[in-house]
Amino acid sequence: MPNFDLIIRNGTIATASESYKADIGIRDGRIVAIGEALTGADEVVDATGKLVLPGGIDSHVHISQPSGPGIVMADDFESATRAAAFGGNSTVMPYCLQQKGESLRTVLKDYHALAQGNCHIDHSFHLIISDPTESVLGQELPALFANGYTSFKVFMTYEGMALDDYEMLSVLEVAREAGALVQIHAENYDAIRFLTDRLERAGKTAPHFHGRSRPIPVEREATHRAISLAELIDVPIMIVHVSNREAMEEIRRAQMRGLKVMGETCPQYLVLTESDMDRPGTEGAKYVCSPPPRDHASQEACWEGLQRGVFSVFSSDHCPFRYEDEAGKLAPKGRSSFRWVPNGIPGIETRLPILFSEGVVKGRISLEQFVALTATNHAKIYGLSGKGSIAVGYDADIAIWDPELKRPIQQAGLHHGADYTPFEGIEITGWPVSLLVRGNFIVREGELVGAKGEGRYLPRAKPFQSRPL
Ligand code: URP
Ligand code: ZN
Ligand code: ZN
Ligand code: ZN
Repeated sequence: MPNFDLIIRNGTIATASESYKADIGIRDGRIVAIGEALTGADEVVDATGKLVLPGGIDSHVHISQPSGPGIVMADDFESATRAAAFGGNSTVMPYCLQQKGESLRTVLKDYHALAQGNCHIDHSFHLIISDPTESVLGQELPALFANGYTSFKVFMTYEGMALDDYEMLSVLEVAREAGALVQIHAENYDAIRFLTDRLERAGKTAPHFHGRSRPIPVEREATHRAISLAELIDVPIMIVHVSNREAMEEIRRAQMRGLKVMGETCPQYLVLTESDMDRPGTEGAKYVCSPPPRDHASQEACWEGLQRGVFSVFSSDHCPFRYEDEAGKLAPKGRSSFRWVPNGIPGIETRLPILFSEGVVKGRISLEQFVALTATNHAKIYGLSGKGSIAVGYDADIAIWDPELKRPIQQAGLHHGADYTPFEGIEITGWPVSLLVRGNFIVREGELVGAKGEGRYLPRAKPFQSRPL
């Protein structure tokens, strides 16, 4: 009997701490050996000249999430996880949005039903808490934490979702008591409402004004406030989708003071700017997301945050809407004002190639930093055991990359449900060519070979100790 189901031979393996040439032996979905000249497998794949990386983990994606009357997300679980696989990812962490009045159990049941049997890669859920009632805080959340739903997001902005400071404190308190991790969308809701009203009154309704309705102080102030609230409760937080230096500096200062404040940034803040929303007609709507892309100095700051470890994770914030679609970016209301353009852009397939090409190939970050930022840290922070690295005993979630393959990002070559990519035309050096989840090829030499339904749901361990307040 052979020792292994599969050997990946002679690739350059990279982890968060080192890179080296070796063979990987896989049996029953796990990495069981790493060494020189392994033999005895049903199948041997030659990875000479290729990079062999842990499959990406994207811990911030939105799939099939309700987005307002008449608006439909461009991806369901099938298309999103297919696109993610082509982009070198083996695990995604979508959100389950609680709408006002909903019980969290119902929310989770609904999302499990959407995901069940439809995922090409593994997945685990975060909750979005938009209605922190007494029963949600007192009973539902604690019970769900115990069942492996150990992280959730709260919003400081958006109608129907924004929590006030009292609610934020209540939620942070529950997280502390349970050892859960809270992700925070930090923008000042009242400031955005005020600025939006004034812009509309002045007839400034084109997509470009989305950026003007939430300038940097809106994000900086909320980031500072979120950190202060977490400090009061003494609980770890993750500030998601940080777009600029001032917010990044708030996080860095908190870290230097010893607070457990983590940060995330995303591709849009590295390669887009506010001027992308200036495109003619309504085309700027393709770039509308929150926080908005800023300027070149902000891009530099986000790179600095990645280089210095202020940001521990790099995620896509994939939130896809079709452009040429009444149920998407250009719903009738969206045409009337930026206020109604659904926020979010697609990016699940392009996250890793953008960071690899702009970061590793251009010498801004090391290959090891790339692995940490795109896989290992996500697994550690969110409690995905056996995921996010290449090591004996880990799941054989592996992306094989051709580091020299040059191809621009083009909508025609992507696999998501959106009808455009905001990253169109960016020249990329280095693309994932094959992707394995638990030892099975999902994508092989650029072809989908896995069937939907192969992806599993992953319950998670508590990221932190429970500590009563
Ligand atoms: O504009 C964005 N980022 N939409 C997605 C929802 C969120 O805030 O993450
Ligand atoms: Zn957000
Ligand atoms: Zn402009
Ligand atoms: Zn998001």
